[in-house]
Amino acid sequence: MTSLAGQVAIVTGGASGLGLGIVQRFVEAGAAVVIADINDRDGEAYADRIGAHYQHVDVTNAEHVNAVIQKSTDHFGRLDVMVNNAGVSSKMHRSFLHDDLSDFSKVMGVNLLGVMLGTREAARYMADNGGGAIINIASIGGMNPGGGVMTYRASKAAVIHFTESVAAELAPLGVSVNCIAPGGIPTPILASSVEGLSPEALEKFVEKTRAKMRSDRPLPRDGTAEDVAEAALYFAAFSDTTGVVLPVDGGTTAGLLR
Ligand code: NAI
Repeated sequence: MTSLAGQVAIVTGGASGLGLGIVQRFVEAGAAVVIADINDRDGEAYADRIGAHYQHVDVTNAEHVNAVIQKSTDHFGRLDVMVNNAGVSSKMHRSFLHDDLSDFSKVMGVNLLGVMLGTREAARYMADNGGGAIINIASIGGMNPGGGVMTYRASKAAVIHFTESVAAELAPLGVSVNCIAPGGIPTPILASSVEGLSPEALEKFVEKTRAKMRSDRPLPRDGTAEDVAEAALYFAAFSDTTGVVLPVDGGTTAGLLR
């Protein structure tokens, strides 16, 4: 079994969905894990339940990001893995012509600036302390063109390009930086992409969108947080891969036979 025994990891956005799956898997693998999130209630409850640690961190705030690294390294004496997973969806629109871009700063702030701050602060520590692994959670929405959530797509494409670029710079310092691009995995993020719907209409929207995502997946099953967590474990445990983007999407990006 792949082991992270004795290692220390921080997972941003670890209080829900894919981040929570990564936290659970890393704890199982023997790591000390810090959940860094703005959702204190869930973050603290899951940390207690799983045997992880929690710190309130808004990833758009450089001082918060610096503080979680400082506290973790003071407390545990090391930092081996940084997972920049926190993300938000932009609002879904019928057409880009209807998009007032009012969520642009928020989405770019969390999805891109948050990843860049997390990468910089972790890499500053790792470069001086024997290296480490940084894992950025992008999206197949940043690889495949499509409609609906343009700011989200643009933010995730930027995460991919940033990761590939910074990997080259950090490799000689012993720091790997890789991207996971999940696709269509049931979590609360989908429902957060629409507003103003009644509970029934929201449920219908989620069902319809999930059905479409499912039909785009050549592998005949839904993806899970565990699938993403296994990919993260690979990047965390094996350091000879850097600058790659790994879709975890049931073959959607490969578009097999279409
Ligand atoms: P989620 O909504 O379940 O979890 C997102 C987490 O990020 C929450 O715990 C939330 O509190 C936290 N967060 C939001 N803003 C934050 C901030 N400013 N600072 C710190 N934490 C913050 O969503 P999910 O699905 O687990 O998404 C995780 C990542 O995976 C995101 O980056 C998302 O874009 C990406 N992703 C998810 C896909 C899916 O199918 N679920 C597909 C492609 C990408």
